[in-house]
Amino acid sequence: MELFESKFRESMTSQVALLNRITYYIVNRKGKQMRPMFVFLTAKLLNDGEVNERTYRGASVIELIHTATLVHDDVVDESDKRRGFFSINALWKNKIAVLVGDYLLSKGLLLSIDNGDFDLLRIISVAVREMSEGELLQIEKARRLDITEEVYYDIIRQKTATLIAACCGLGACSVKPDSNDVETFRKFGELCGMAFQIKDDLFDYGEEKIGKPTGIDIKEQKMTLPLIYALNNCSKKEKSWLINSIKNHNKNKKRVKEVIAFVKKIGGLDYAVTKMLAFKDEALYLLNTYPKSDYKDALELMVNYVVERKK
Ligand code: IPE
Ligand code: IPE
Ligand code: MG
Ligand code: MG
Repeated sequence: MELFESKFRESMTSQVALLNRITYYIVNRKGKQMRPMFVFLTAKLLNDGEVNERTYRGASVIELIHTATLVHDDVVDESDKRRGFFSINALWKNKIAVLVGDYLLSKGLLLSIDNGDFDLLRIISVAVREMSEGELLQIEKARRLDITEEVYYDIIRQKTATLIAACCGLGACSVKPDSNDVETFRKFGELCGMAFQIKDDLFDYGEEKIGKPTGIDIKEQKMTLPLIYALNNCSKKEKSWLINSIKNHNKNKKRVKEVIAFVKKIGGLDYAVTKMLAFKDEALYLLNTYPKSDYKDALELMVNYVVERKK
């Protein structure tokens, strides 16, 4: 990871001073770096602990794209905090944040192109397309307030799980380009990603300090699994109250608190936890089709971390 970090840092540099100032700010407030870890551990599991330059480049591309989507996501969600500090849009405003996100995306794609990693680029580009579609699907469905559990899974599969699927698929592809392992690990990553986003959506209902705002999903009319469960398991009268709250009072802090309390009382959080653990178990089941090794143990720890993490 140390070597990765220096390569990652380098992959962002620009001739433009303002960009360097901002990317310097970004790399000094690093996240959990779970995506590169998924890339490396998958590659190592499949290749007796050996990774290569393609693996490093793939990990950098994924983290660049992840960073780009977070910078854009905070514009879309009007969020002023990220990783415990101010978000890029909070410090430099939306115009600059949009352009910085584009810059990071282009740097990521070029890192693959300049090195002829076209098989990896295909995996990554599919993820980029799906993430954009997922974010837009979320906005479309939120507007209509008619989202079902199935549509919720479609949204989180596209906006989050595909990138983690790409991490594991790419990790496999970097060392075993034409093997069936690429698809198996893509699926494994997707399942981890589903659990990962349900966990992220659960954080929004909590009060814990996670380095970004909580309680903003309802404000943004983002219907996540706890709320969807509540809507489907309450009386007609409660449902009208819930819908009216989200539609017309979503910026009213007291009302949002009441909605959160209602969702908790009716068991929305417990339900989401159960579903999250089911995705986690499915991921572990796939992983268990591989023989025992240190890297398998480490991946198992990662899967458990996805659902147990505190931020
Ligand atoms: C946040 O991802 C975006 C989601 C898909 C929920 P992470 O929680 O992995 O973000 P960092 O990189 O650790 O900050
Ligand atoms: C995750 O979306 C970001 C992307 C996958 C593009 P969210 O809006 O749910 O994530 P956080 O909570 O802001 O990190
Ligand atoms: Mg968002
Ligand atoms: Mg967000």
